[in-house]
Amino acid sequence: MGGGLGLRRRGAQLPLALLLVLVAAAAGAAAGKGKGKGAHGSTSTRLRFRRDSGTFKVVQVADMHYADGRATACEDVLPSQVAGCSDLNTTAFLYRVFRDEDPDLVVFTGDNIYGADSTDAAKSMDAAIAPAIDMKLPWAAVIGNHDQEGTLSREGVMRHLVSMKNSLSGLNPEGVEIDGYGNYNLEVSGVNGTSLGEKSVLNLYFLDSGDYSTVPSIKGYGWIKASQQVWFQQTSSSLQRKYMNETPKQKEPAPGLVFFHIPLPEFSSFTAANITGVKQEGISSASINSGFFASMVEAGDVKAAFIGHDHLNDFCGKLGGIQLCYAGGFGYHAYGKAGWSRRARVVSVQLEKTDNGEWQGVKSIKTWKRLDDPQLSTIDSEVLWNRGFNGRRKKNTDGS
Ligand SMILES: *[C@@H]1O[C@H](CO)[C@@H](O)[C@H](O)[C@H]1NC(C)=O
Ligand SMILES: *[C@@H]1O[C@H](CO)[C@@H](O)[C@H](O)[C@H]1NC(C)=O
Ligand SMILES: *[C@@H]1O[C@H](CO)[C@@H](O)[C@H](O)[C@H]1NC(C)=O
Repeated sequence: MGGGLGLRRRGAQLPLALLLVLVAAAAGAAAGKGKGKGAHGSTSTRLRFRRDSGTFKVVQVADMHYADGRATACEDVLPSQVAGCSDLNTTAFLYRVFRDEDPDLVVFTGDNIYGADSTDAAKSMDAAIAPAIDMKLPWAAVIGNHDQEGTLSREGVMRHLVSMKNSLSGLNPEGVEIDGYGNYNLEVSGVNGTSLGEKSVLNLYFLDSGDYSTVPSIKGYGWIKASQQVWFQQTSSSLQRKYMNETPKQKEPAPGLVFFHIPLPEFSSFTAANITGVKQEGISSASINSGFFASMVEAGDVKAAFIGHDHLNDFCGKLGGIQLCYAGGFGYHAYGKAGWSRRARVVSVQLEKTDNGEWQGVKSIKTWKRLDDPQLSTIDSEVLWNRGFNGRRKKNTDGS
């Protein structure tokens, strides 16, 4: 992490000025300005917890690997399933899981399309995401390492995802020089009309974990760079200050959930003894550790990180107070394991209720997976975090 922030084009210029820009941008984000809202012009898509149940539910879709639809065959299905199997099976699974779970947000965590087999990257993305748009679900996406292998660059892919209907995706924070494309955050307000109805009680962070190393001496996958970590830390810090200092003041930070594509080296910390779910292949992280796990732990608000990339791993394991979760592969044109169902992860966040029946801040975060089998089976339900049980106090990082 030493020496320079890894920022594009600004090189060694004025670190203090840069820091001020970052602080301002983070404050803007926390104030609800900037990316994620506005670019697509839809003000009606403010994310909120539901009044009836006090819940906010996310369906995470990892590694669709969508290409040309009906013309694109399935990989790693049973011999009896090969005929008539295509990207359209991925589409059908999206509809099934969306109908059954009725999510408040869908998050696509990269390798949404398989660029190398796609004739037209924009068309592939339109087809891949279509079920969410058709069902009028708000959605957000990050990119993986295969999205840019077709007719669009990483920037082009992310710009397209930002421009699509009902997209809450953001290209990058305004006024910040940052690595990658698709670094942004989303805020989820408390129940409308309650004391926390205008505050973000749940914070979602999205980062571009890159594709491949561009440093000749380092082989393998990309990583979350220092510039992105600085943005994340400033944004988290700003959101925490706002939540705890502005009326009605809260005692603890609002929980944060982080979404990106490529595993951190820390995903290798587990064995079958301390995970829920399965580990059926190696952890394909970058070959170096850029420190993002430490950044998340230090920030203090992050309760869980959700990724994809390794399709045969679908576990969650807890390290340093943070749940590290794979979703397992979703798409039929992605490598998989014949006879092992494609799957999605569901994350359900529950608010606390006062004795007089008013919804408060977040009480617990649960997760489970849905399988594309005839029963649309639910497996591996677990509690990822409980307030007061393993919540962490914020370390004061106020730079003032
Ligand atoms: C793919 O979809 C077809 C058409 O609905 C269906 O018959 C087939 O069973 C599906 N294949 C798999 C592996 O789900
Ligand atoms: C929010 O609550 C107010 C009353 O407190 C109501 O007028 C408004 O329609 C509600 N908005 C939504 C989106 O439910
Ligand atoms: C998981 O369990 C293994 C022993 O089976 C242990 O070596 C490892 O440190 C544990 N990891 C975590 C994160 O608890």
